[in-house]
Amino acid sequence: MDTADSAHATSSSQAAAGSNPLLDPRDLRLPRIADPCVMVMFGITGDLARHKLLPAIYDLANRGLLSPSFSLVGVGRRDWSDEDMRAYVRGSVGAHARTPWHESIWEQLAEGMRFVTFSSFEDDEAYERLTGVVAELDASRGTSGNRAFYLSIPPGWFPAVTQRVAASGLVDDAPGSWRRVVIEKPFGHDRDSARELDSLVGRIVRPDDVFRVDHYLGKETVQNILALRFANTMFEPLWNQGYVDHVQITMAEDIGIGSRAGYYDTIGAARDVIQNHLLQLLALTAMEEPSSMDAAAVRAEKEKVLDCVRLTRHGVLDLDATTARGRYVGGFQGGVAVPGYTEEQGVPQDSTTETFAAIRLEIANRRWAGVPFYLRAGKRLARRVTEVAVVFKQPPFLPFDPSATAGVGANTIVLRIQPDEGITMRLASKVPGTHMELRDVLMDFGYGASFNEESPEAYERLILDALLGDAPLFPHQREVDLSWRILDPVIEHWAAAGVPDSYRPGSWGPDSAHDLLTRDGRTWRRS
Ligand code: BG6
Repeated sequence: MDTADSAHATSSSQAAAGSNPLLDPRDLRLPRIADPCVMVMFGITGDLARHKLLPAIYDLANRGLLSPSFSLVGVGRRDWSDEDMRAYVRGSVGAHARTPWHESIWEQLAEGMRFVTFSSFEDDEAYERLTGVVAELDASRGTSGNRAFYLSIPPGWFPAVTQRVAASGLVDDAPGSWRRVVIEKPFGHDRDSARELDSLVGRIVRPDDVFRVDHYLGKETVQNILALRFANTMFEPLWNQGYVDHVQITMAEDIGIGSRAGYYDTIGAARDVIQNHLLQLLALTAMEEPSSMDAAAVRAEKEKVLDCVRLTRHGVLDLDATTARGRYVGGFQGGVAVPGYTEEQGVPQDSTTETFAAIRLEIANRRWAGVPFYLRAGKRLARRVTEVAVVFKQPPFLPFDPSATAGVGANTIVLRIQPDEGITMRLASKVPGTHMELRDVLMDFGYGASFNEESPEAYERLILDALLGDAPLFPHQREVDLSWRILDPVIEHWAAAGVPDSYRPGSWGPDSAHDLLTRDGRTWRRS
């Protein structure tokens, strides 16, 4: 939406709210415009900034959702002038922005860009320069002392950065203005380190001013899980152990680790995406109805369900039976030769990092007792797909000839997070003809077909929310802590087990992942 559109949307939605006393203007699609502020981005030259953060900032400006005074200070080791940074951001926006190019929007944004060269994150003198640049922007662009520090850097640098940012006075309380810190995962590498990280950040800003980014929560389809469950009547009565056989949560990628060996080899699949994205999907799928959509109410329910997650299978802890891990070997994918994980540039030969992880979990509460949740995530799998599949039990009785139902599987609701965003229901139906034969059919809701609007990128939503101080889409430290509680024993178990199992590129992971379900008399979807 450009600025003119957004002005129109404001007046029309206000008018609509005004004429209907039942409508709350907050629920309408009023543009939510962020306060004037300075965003200081540590890690601006990294992949995430180039591919996602900078294009999202431009897209927000283009949609009229940033204040015209919004200013961006890049911090990095390059010897760049402000002009160099503008050229770099322009390149990233040109290549990755979602919305069309508008020179006037770009010029307004570019005017507020500055770059501060740091010889390292321990360069005290550079923090002084940064302080000066932020003060200059406050004065020249009227950013009113509002500051967001975006830390898109490895967590190992957090102590150095937070200490110096605090010492520089940049985050000191100032009446009438806000100071926020936005941090990217990984939130630590285990429960203890996550707690340390939290206490470091807690030294510079209040807990409510820390915004932890799990970009899956910014995806429309992930937010839609709560809409599907709690804005409809027909799903919730079935959403429990009485009707659900099991749940499969899959995040499959068809790409390898690319140039990210430095990051990925210290992390692995479980820490990279299960600790955050997949456990968040599990929490949203399994939580009780919150009293409202307020951050605190939603968070409380997510925390409750995460607290009930168990690694045991029928009460017994046997991680060899309930987890699987693998790493891709070299081969062909889509007709193209691809290297194995240990042949990727930068991966040590003796690496034991997994590129695939699967875990069977149970939830010890009345709603889910006895219903396994199977989570799997991996690189170089058969195709890119993220989905939550809720697989229902077989009907207790089928009044049909057994031959008529031979082609019928389990009713399934699939929440398709990406691609082809939408929801599919699989149900049995009569095959047209003179005799009774049943077969599975799909009922499909697709975002593309039902809505005209293109979904914003997750980072647009999250950056805007952080600038607005809106917390619901950011995991709280307690959720992070509970997720590590679940994962720590698995990672420790794997650490003692040596090299992961192998799997072919373009497959659905190692045999051990299939055994994990076979043991329960089930199979993965799409395998
Ligand atoms: C990131 C992981 O959080 O999510 C990456 O660090 C992964 O390894 C990426 O590739 C996938 O994100 P998306 O939005 O493409 O599913």
